Amino acid sequence: MKIISAPDYQSMSRKAANIISAQVILFPDSVLGLATGSTPVGVYKQLINWFEKGDIDFSRIHSVNLDEYCGLPVEHEQSYRYYMDHNFFNHVNVPKANTNVPNGLAKDFDAECRRYDKVIAQLGGIDLQLLGIGHTGHIGFNEPDEDFDKTTHCVKLKQQTIEANSRFFANEDEVPKYALTMGIKAIMQAKKLLLIANGADKAEILYRSLFGPITPSVPASILQLHNDVTIVADEEALSVIREKCPEAIG
Ligand code: GLP
Repeated sequence: MKIISAPDYQSMSRKAANIISAQVILFPDSVLGLATGSTPVGVYKQLINWFEKGDIDFSRIHSVNLDEYCGLPVEHEQSYRYYMDHNFFNHVNVPKANTNVPNGLAKDFDAECRRYDKVIAQLGGIDLQLLGIGHTGHIGFNEPDEDFDKTTHCVKLKQQTIEANSRFFANEDEVPKYALTMGIKAIMQAKKLLLIANGADKAEILYRSLFGPITPSVPASILQLHNDVTIVADEEALSVIREKCPEAIG
C-alpha cells in the first residue's frame, strides 16, 4: 500500500490523473474501472485537459463503471451514466461503445448484474480501478456488512449514504433507495487500485479503512489485502493517519 499526500484537492486530482495517464500511455488498451461522486471530478477535468493538449489518447481504452442508481433515466443529471458522459466521456475520444455503466433501468436487476459480470470478464478484468470512499467506508455502493465475495449486485443504500448523496438532489426523498454495484470481488481482482479522498470528513473512515481491522463493517478495509493499491489523498483526509501513523505516508 502506498499513501501519497497532496496539499489540496487540485493537487490530489493532478497526482491521481498522472497515475491514470501513465497507465493509458504505457498500456493504450487498458480497461479502466471508473468511479463517480464529487471526489473524481477534478481527476476527469485534468485528464480532459491533457487530452486536449494531445498528451493522452483514450481511443483504445475500455471502461467499466462501479455503480449506478436504480430507477434513474440516463438523462437524469444524477444518474451515473449522465455524470460520466458529462464529466468525462463526451470530452475525450473514448468510443461510447467501449464504455460500460450498469443499467439502473433494467427490468430484471439480477439478469443485469450477471450481464455486467460477463462484460467485466469478457474484457479480461480491470487493469486500473479508480475508487472514491463513502462515509460508511463503502466503495462503489458496497455498503457495510455485505459479503466480501459478492459480484455485481443490487444494494439497498444505507440511510447515511442517502443523506450524504442528498446534496446532489432537490431533497432526500428524491435519492434512489437502491443501486447496482460492482462487487468487492471484481474490485479486488483489478490489477491496480487507486483510491482518492479529500476533505476532513473522510479522515476517520480513511484511517479505519487502511489501518483498522479488515471487516465487512468497513468495506474499504478489504483494500489492505490488495497487493497494488495506491491512495492519493489531501492533507485533510490524511489528518488522522498523519496523527496516528505518520510513517505510513510516503
Ligand atoms: C457514492 C459513490 C461512491 C463514492 C461515494 C463518495 O456513494 N457510489 O463510488 O465513492 O459516493 O462520494 P464523494 O466522492 O462525493 O464523497
